[in-house]
Amino acid sequence: MKYADIDWLANGNPVSKRFQDVYFSQAGGIEETQHVFHQGNDLPLRWSEGPEFKIGELGFGSGLSFFTTVKKFRETAKPGSRLHYLSFEIEPWSVDDLKRFHANHGWLDPDLKHFIQNFPPLIEGIHVIRWNDVSLTLVLGDAREQIKTLRWPAGAVGIQAWFLHGFAPGKNPELWERPLFEELARLSAEHCTFSTFTVSSSVRGNLESAGFEANLVAGFSRKREMLRGKLLKSRPDSYHPALPRRMPKAPIRSAVIIGGGLAGCATAYELTRAGIHVTLIERNAKIAQETSGNPAGLVMPFLAQEPDPKCLWALRSVLAVTKQISQWPDLRAKSGVLELLTSEAERDRIQEAIKRLDLPSNWAAIRSESEVQTRSGLGESLKAPFGAVDFSLGLRVSPVQLCEKYLAEKSRLEVKTSTEALRFEFNAGEWQVFDSKNQKIANAQSLILANSTDATAFAQSSELPLVSVRGQMAQMHAPENIGELRCALVAEHSLIPLSENEWWIGATYERLSTDHALRETESLNMKESFSQWVPSLHSSQAPTGGRVSFRTYSPDAMPLVGALPNTPLFNEQFRDWHKGHPWTHYTEGNMLPQAWCSLAHGSRGIATTLLAARVLKAELTGELYPVESRVLDALHPARFQIRKLQKNQIEKTT
Ligand SMILES: Cc1cc2nc3c(=O)[nH]c(=O)nc-3n(C[C@H](O)[C@H](O)[C@H](O)COP(=O)(O)OP(=O)(O)OC[C@H]3O[C@@H](n4cnc5c(N)ncnc54)[C@H](O)[C@@H]3O)c2cc1C
Ligand SMILES: C[S@@+](CC[C@H](N)C(=O)[O-])C[C@H]1O[C@@H](n2cnc3c(N)ncnc32)[C@H](O)[C@@H]1O
Repeated sequence: MKYADIDWLANGNPVSKRFQDVYFSQAGGIEETQHVFHQGNDLPLRWSEGPEFKIGELGFGSGLSFFTTVKKFRETAKPGSRLHYLSFEIEPWSVDDLKRFHANHGWLDPDLKHFIQNFPPLIEGIHVIRWNDVSLTLVLGDAREQIKTLRWPAGAVGIQAWFLHGFAPGKNPELWERPLFEELARLSAEHCTFSTFTVSSSVRGNLESAGFEANLVAGFSRKREMLRGKLLKSRPDSYHPALPRRMPKAPIRSAVIIGGGLAGCATAYELTRAGIHVTLIERNAKIAQETSGNPAGLVMPFLAQEPDPKCLWALRSVLAVTKQISQWPDLRAKSGVLELLTSEAERDRIQEAIKRLDLPSNWAAIRSESEVQTRSGLGESLKAPFGAVDFSLGLRVSPVQLCEKYLAEKSRLEVKTSTEALRFEFNAGEWQVFDSKNQKIANAQSLILANSTDATAFAQSSELPLVSVRGQMAQMHAPENIGELRCALVAEHSLIPLSENEWWIGATYERLSTDHALRETESLNMKESFSQWVPSLHSSQAPTGGRVSFRTYSPDAMPLVGALPNTPLFNEQFRDWHKGHPWTHYTEGNMLPQAWCSLAHGSRGIATTLLAARVLKAELTGELYPVESRVLDALHPARFQIRKLQKNQIEKTT
């Protein structure tokens, strides 16, 4: 992706070099927005259609239409209402151009500042920027492709008003095509409206074929007419019945979360911010004492040859958590991760992956040995003959502090530590959770399992295929006289500087072990193995301590994020799945009522647990999902069940 190349007219108005067209009517962008888009969609009259009003826009450009709409919304909507604004942009504006253009729009200064601070990197896909009352989903890339990846939970209200603001159809035909309008219809609410400045007959024809009724009304300034209209018949999205993603029928006001590690704390953070009362249950005396209790961990993208769901999930997770952490300087997260390369072939492969994923250089760049030596702070004490991938925005952070930060805001949150959940049941519309003495420890409308492998101890989730993998980290003194390590180094193991003198090295990887004891030889072996990169480690002092904990994996190494299947009913329903019926043959899979999970975050939970929490929040509250549709399917908790059914491997229940 690249930033828009803009020519500036003498009157200060911007013109796109690529599309050879003006961004607004010369009679004024604000006035044009008010006439064409606000009046064209009967705004602000319609804000009160629900607690949140949802607008979609083709062409974000300078954001003037967005900021003008936010201003109008704040001036006229009922207190407490929310605005969701979805917009697409193929060539975002650079921060310099944004500042230059908006210099005269003093009224939007605080919002512009927030927008610029949260401005996404030039990475295609979904980016969300939130204010207290407004959320902006900015989808970067070609709208025609990107829109296909978007999805609402079934039952959610879709877009209520579309602002069609491409450049003139003759100069920018891509934004006025029928297939794109069909996608708009797919994402629209019932009675959705649209408006646009153009009266092009082909645009009108395309809108009509996509199911919109279009009418001519008075245009803005010198334009005699413009088009406005509405969707005649909504087109519900078609979902895979075995991987349902549906929002609850009634609004969820309370949730009980089992597990006080990263998954539980991040979910509590997102849900309380969405107005849901949360009771978080943790069996230890404090939160983040088990897997999330490591002294430090890394956040970095995972570079695959293709942007498959795993790679996209990791990338989106890293983007989300780094942005979040950047707002919390007191966490003292440190940036800079270098992944040391082991061969020329590996270097070429990674170079190719960076190119395919089109990552900006501050997200991933290949560096030579001398660059890596300088950047790491170790100089020639670091040997990196094939160089390294420099994730300069990658982070090292304390998971414990991150968990504490997630729970720092106490409103709508109750944390019950030293409390172990033994079982739960659904009674009269709510989940009740009991301890080993059969005492009720919590009740709420919804239930979220975030207790890693222990989720399999509950009857309703005992079939989840979760595997535990032991990992040992070793603590050591930094060798003397080799300079201060300024970045984390990643090879077979990772070397994480916690302070000038204290390094942690980790981690081992042992499946099916339940051994909690620290093994001295393992720590020594890790130190020895890393000495191929930092030879002084060979003769340095033995590790002084360490920590053992257990990652939880699913068989395909993707987390489980979403509604929990009602296993017996689900199996019955899809019993003949192996016979190869088309999936339209089945009705929607049976799920437990109002019960979700965020599990199996493997070795990447620092990043993935926050985005998982946002996926759950979207599902509970009816927001647009923050990740691509195919990523959602790859995260679905019922996917293993359906794979078993596909192979006819489910035993018959009597
Ligand atoms: C050695 C090692 C190194 C790692 N390094 C990194 C890294 O560099 N970067 C990264 O992103 N990730 C890393 N990870 C992974 C990361 O730590 C995990 O993905 C993350 O901590 C998982 O969080 P969780 O909340 O799912 O699980 P946990 O932190 O284990 O939390 C689950 C919680 O549930 C509680 N619980 C369980 N059952 C019950 C019950 N019945 N009632 C009440 N409470 C219950 C437990 O006490 C626990 O606190 C590493 C993991 C290991 C093991
Ligand atoms: C007329 S401008 C929109 C102005 C904008 N509403 C504002 O407030 O500044 C049209 C925008 O559509 C974008 N655009 C054009 N083709 C696109 C495509 N295929 N996908 C996404 N955005 C596109 C352009 O880059 C440009 O920013």
